[in-house]
Amino acid sequence: MPTLTDDQKARIRAFVAKYPKKQAATLPALHLVHDENRTVSNEAVVEIADLLDLHPSEVQDTMTFYAFFKGEGEKLGRTRLWVCRGLACALRGANELIDHCEAKLGIHCGQTTEDGAITLEFAECIGACDGAPACLRDDKHVMDVTPEKADKMIQELRAL
Ligand code: FES
Repeated sequence: MPTLTDDQKARIRAFVAKYPKKQAATLPALHLVHDENRTVSNEAVVEIADLLDLHPSEVQDTMTFYAFFKGEGEKLGRTRLWVCRGLACALRGANELIDHCEAKLGIHCGQTTEDGAITLEFAECIGACDGAPACLRDDKHVMDVTPEKADKMIQELRAL
């Protein structure tokens, strides 16, 4: 049974038209599937490769080059929560904030809560140093994050 929907396949084919070579659509295709399926399964890798006239290993190589993507056997939660531990954030308590979030969620960075609500990650500078310590809630910055603010955000995310 195919992993990609007809709509996803159509949008991946539309990416191809924007680039001089089909291979250049690999990353946009991976992002599309990853965002919507919350993982890129082995079957999805094969289907993307088929759409782009590539060997599955070429798609797999691109996917694993970036630690960003979750692959077979891994799945993102509904929200991906990145806690920045870059220098500015580290100087303002990011490592303690990461410890706090791990304890609050009962997981380590890179893992997803059992309820599927949150995947916790650490990041290296997310471009929000003026709001250190900062987090990314999917693609939105959250600035000046205290443990109390993190608790409130986690509560909100679990309720989504
Ligand atoms: S170091 Fe955290 S946002 Fe720059």
